[in-house]
Amino acid sequence: MPDTRPGREKILGVAQKIRRNTRKGNESGFRVIITGKGGVGKTTITALLAHLFAQKGFTTLAVDEDPQMNLPFAAGIPREESDRIIPLTKNLDYVQEKTGVRPGAGWGSMLTLNPDVSDVVERFGIKGPGGVNILVMGTIMQAATGCLCPENTLLESVIRYINLREGEVILMDTPAGVEHFGRSIAQGFNQAVLITDPTFNAVQVVRQSAHLAKELGIPTIHLVINRVRSENDIRKVQEILGDTMDLFSEQFYLPYDEDLIVCEPDVVPLLNSASPFMERLITLQKTLENYGTKP
Ligand SMILES: Nc1ncnc2c1ncn2[C@@H]1O[C@H](COP(=O)(O)OP(=O)(O)OP(=O)(O)O)[C@@H](O)[C@H]1O
Ligand SMILES: [Mg+2]
Repeated sequence: MPDTRPGREKILGVAQKIRRNTRKGNESGFRVIITGKGGVGKTTITALLAHLFAQKGFTTLAVDEDPQMNLPFAAGIPREESDRIIPLTKNLDYVQEKTGVRPGAGWGSMLTLNPDVSDVVERFGIKGPGGVNILVMGTIMQAATGCLCPENTLLESVIRYINLREGEVILMDTPAGVEHFGRSIAQGFNQAVLITDPTFNAVQVVRQSAHLAKELGIPTIHLVINRVRSENDIRKVQEILGDTMDLFSEQFYLPYDEDLIVCEPDVVPLLNSASPFMERLITLQKTLENYGTKP
């Protein structure tokens, strides 16, 4: 039966037009997807990495694929400014208005053939503090099964549409679980950061994700063990993962840090701290930068 939910057709139509306009060349910039079980620290780590990349002069696009839309607040956009955030799925009319394109006429003509991050941010995203650009997918109109949801299709089209130049990086924060690896949205990412805490269920999600990411052809997969309180926590995770450990290019251990809870959801105050947590995170940022697009 055809799906007649209002808006669905429009979202899919725009996604298809964007896709038709996409011509993929060789990219010099790179894409990193951040995944893991609920609550392991995905959004916190994505927001901090986005700021660290921006501080090093990268043009950084932090993408929020989570319908909960927590990333803008983590990246430092104040709650009272939240009306500035127009999720991708809500701004179809807004974009037409802003660009003076006649409804129904213009999507094809307003898209450039070889867009960079700033083209896409101007049309679909927002500029956050510290030079971090943010693109928010927005809420899903109605829970639809997995990969067929039009909101995801639209986000995927927009992300693919960008042709990353040297010095440009996309960091994508994802909803909890492994679903994105079943969709093509994760394809074309150069690196995956799989985050777990030292609990059995979170490690199982990472184990499954690591195999899915490999099958999907993501060349470089890193493991982050977050909320570490002792050597035992690290050993426990490594033991549960067993042979899956071979799939990781690098491993990082981030300590439990009360300061994160004090300032959450905003991570910006942490950027000036010389805590062990931030030291390790800076090492993670450098590693992602060094791997870049390398297989
Ligand atoms: N190393 C840490 N030490 C202490 N608290 C932490 C640490 N890492 C993350 N947290 C806290 O854990 C909570 C959950 O983090 P976050 O929202 O980043 O997780 P998430 O994986 O994005 O969750 P969700 O799946 O709900 O999107 C936040 O309050 C955050 O401040
Ligand atoms: Mg999150």
